[in-house]
Amino acid sequence: MVNLEQVRQAYGSVAELYIELFGTRQQVHPDDLAFIGRHLAGRPGTVLDLGCGPGHITDYLRSLGADATGIDMVPEFIAHARAAHPGGSYQLGSMENLAVADRSIAGILAWGSLIHLPPDDLDGQLAEFRRVMAPAGRLVLGLFVGDEVEAFDHKVVTAYRWPVDEFSERLARAGFAEVERLQRPSEGTQRPHAAIAAIAADG
Ligand SMILES: C[S@@+](CC[C@H](N)C(=O)[O-])C[C@H]1O[C@@H](n2cnc3c(N)ncnc32)[C@H](O)[C@@H]1O
Repeated sequence: MVNLEQVRQAYGSVAELYIELFGTRQQVHPDDLAFIGRHLAGRPGTVLDLGCGPGHITDYLRSLGADATGIDMVPEFIAHARAAHPGGSYQLGSMENLAVADRSIAGILAWGSLIHLPPDDLDGQLAEFRRVMAPAGRLVLGLFVGDEVEAFDHKVVTAYRWPVDEFSERLARAGFAEVERLQRPSEGTQRPHAAIAAIAADG
């Protein structure tokens, strides 16, 4: 099982290559971009792109008019994001304890950024998302899919695949109701992938 410091160091050591392979919006599947845009743009309030990596999806959301800020714990990614998107808003930090008030955030994107989280830590992280989310706020996640919760050898550092229904149940337990799901089977070297959009339920 990996800890946060190991994940930070692993991404820091491959940041340049990651940026080259994945760091522009053109390198994101068009269906994913459309999914992210339709759930997180076009409504008032702050959107946090948590685990923003190179910052390209934060920039995409800003191009759609969203008040988006990217947060990542890897300094190399935040330095790149600020240089590549000078008008953007990027902060070095961790999503575990967000320095924002309760119920103050309109939207959260966690695109591939929960994949390294040990499954036992997921509920705590979702509770933190729920704490900061304004009523009816929107959460969008991208994850790897499998028949059971299982660790695998991701190129950067150990990651986990999830049955989508099980992930959705965890969201429901944390106070998020799924509103849309996008699933893509394995394509070439791409692993089975899913996106979930969920709304902060009443309460
Ligand atoms: C697979 S990359 C995805 C990056 C970006 N969202 C993208 O789509 O290219 C996972 C990212 O999550 C970040 N991350 C993982 N855990 C984090 C945490 N607790 N706080 C902030 N960033 C985190 C990593 O540093 C890394 O940049």
